[in-house]
Amino acid sequence: MPSTSRVRPSRRLAWSAAAAVTSAGLAATGLLAFPGSAHAADTLGAAAAESGRYYGAAVAPHLLGEGDYAGTLNREFNSIVAENVMKWDATEPNRGQFNFSGGDQLVSHAQNNGMSVRGHTLVWHAQQPGWVQGLTGNNLRQAMLDHIDGVAGHYAGKIDSWDVVNEAFEWDGSRRQSNLQQQIGNGWIEDAFRAADAADPGATLCYNDYGTDGVNAKSDGIYRMVQDFLARGVPIDCVGFQSHLDSNSDLGSYRQNLQRFADLGVDVQITELDIGGSGSAQANAYRTVTEACVAVSRCTGITTWGITDKYSWRGQDTPLLFDGNYQKKQAYTAVLEALNSAP
Ligand code: XIL
Repeated sequence: MPSTSRVRPSRRLAWSAAAAVTSAGLAATGLLAFPGSAHAADTLGAAAAESGRYYGAAVAPHLLGEGDYAGTLNREFNSIVAENVMKWDATEPNRGQFNFSGGDQLVSHAQNNGMSVRGHTLVWHAQQPGWVQGLTGNNLRQAMLDHIDGVAGHYAGKIDSWDVVNEAFEWDGSRRQSNLQQQIGNGWIEDAFRAADAADPGATLCYNDYGTDGVNAKSDGIYRMVQDFLARGVPIDCVGFQSHLDSNSDLGSYRQNLQRFADLGVDVQITELDIGGSGSAQANAYRTVTEACVAVSRCTGITTWGITDKYSWRGQDTPLLFDGNYQKKQAYTAVLEALNSAP
């Protein structure tokens, strides 16, 4: 049976249990309810933790020195993902020469503050160092395997979930014609997952993509790949839905789409959430996405792609939960309510 073919420790439960054993852990998550009472949590992380989920943010280590940035992160979020510093160009600028300084800083910050860590991303067509872009055939394949071994090996045991492969599909559900696809061939994605499994057997291994915010040709293609991987025992545990959205994005089948992947026997995670817009339209879209995750038991957590609109990669779209002055937006309240109403 596909869903039982992989037996991995549940990092999510391990993390929740660890956070729950001390009163310091409870205070850190902002979860102040007494046993038996139904007290709504008052931070994103604490509200998500009530149903065993995480609520994370993409972080840049060079901003941690800004008081409001670190303060908001530490108060509201209980998971971190590197916005850029764990990508191939940052971690292996020259072949075989690794630089883990930025990633190590984020992992330390997470560990010191009781947060889990998502790894992003081992293999992607973008943000490759120059030396990778010129490689061909088996030389590129070996470089990819060595990269995964180096990075996932370095962080082994410290990463809850890895985005092993990022953005490998086209809108029509076919494989993206990247250098990886063209030089290595169809097998490159499963090669990457096997290498990640060998390097960090405890991490939840995810395939991550955008434009998969409903049942559509692209998510259909990914669905078929996951189905095939599970049937053949390729180690995949999770699908990440980036969810770079706008207030008017069609979310009519968002939840159904998460559910169909969960039903295949993988976890689902919302990995790079940001929603352009403002006011109630933005808040409603955030609410819909959050409600979809909490309605799907295998939706294990949500990450927003940044903390404040001030540093968003889509800054002009004001897509995050905190404005440029770190004030909570209407969307924040909608998300908190949706998390607190999780079954
Ligand atoms: C973006 C970062 O936010 C930017 O700072 C960087 O310049 C480009 O990459 N999909 C992904 C993320 O998987 O890694 C991208 O992050 C956003 C789109």
